[in-house]
Amino acid sequence: MTQSNNSSDHGAYHQHSALFNAFFAISMTVGRGPVGRCVADLAGLTPDDQVVDIGCGPGTAVRVAAGRCANATGVDPSPTMLRFGRWLNALGRTRNVALVQGSAERIPLPDHDATVLWALSSVHHWSNRADGLAEAVRVLAPNGRLLLVERLVKPGAHGGLTGDQVDQLMSDVEAAGFTDVYRDTQSAGRRVLNVVRGSRGPAN
Ligand SMILES: C[S@@+](CC[C@H](N)C(=O)[O-])C[C@H]1O[C@@H](n2cnc3c(N)ncnc32)[C@H](O)[C@@H]1O
Repeated sequence: MTQSNNSSDHGAYHQHSALFNAFFAISMTVGRGPVGRCVADLAGLTPDDQVVDIGCGPGTAVRVAAGRCANATGVDPSPTMLRFGRWLNALGRTRNVALVQGSAERIPLPDHDATVLWALSSVHHWSNRADGLAEAVRVLAPNGRLLLVERLVKPGAHGGLTGDQVDQLMSDVEAAGFTDVYRDTQSAGRRVLNVVRGSRGPAN
């Protein structure tokens, strides 16, 4: 898998203090293993798959994917997340894995580079969903699989999407050109996840 490394503008990612970012990066590793394994199961990963994780944080799910597929690339706008994730990759001697700076709206990867593209708890951070989904269509190979995973939250709460917002996400995924779009609910550890899935379809 090839990638460019344009770090100029990665959407509207908000720059917090270094201390906040470091704390957030560490917190993003706690309890994330079950979510990574759950989405890898749902995606039905094979050794031939090439996985891209949008908004990968410190890369827990990217490392799970790397153990089951040809290669896995995590994309995130946060330098702190990427630095921490690369350190964890080195610690675990994880091969066939790359973490690159970018955003959903500007994925620094070539066309048709992935057979699976997923985003775990990141869609609610995207600054422009239509642009992010257009990038997903571009980066996925024909018949590529899309999985968007979010915690279900109550209206007014942060950190996920409400039921109505998940319905809207499904509509947006269909409007972007994905086919066979559906949603379901999955348990991963103590978390209940909403999963929106779609297929990129065979067209080039
Ligand atoms: C709640 S964390 C989830 C991290 C990881 N996917 C996980 O489940 O452990 C959300 C991530 O989305 C990233 N993010 C923020 N804005 C983004 C954007 N526009 N495109 C892609 N990722 C974004 C953040 O930097 C952060 O790492």
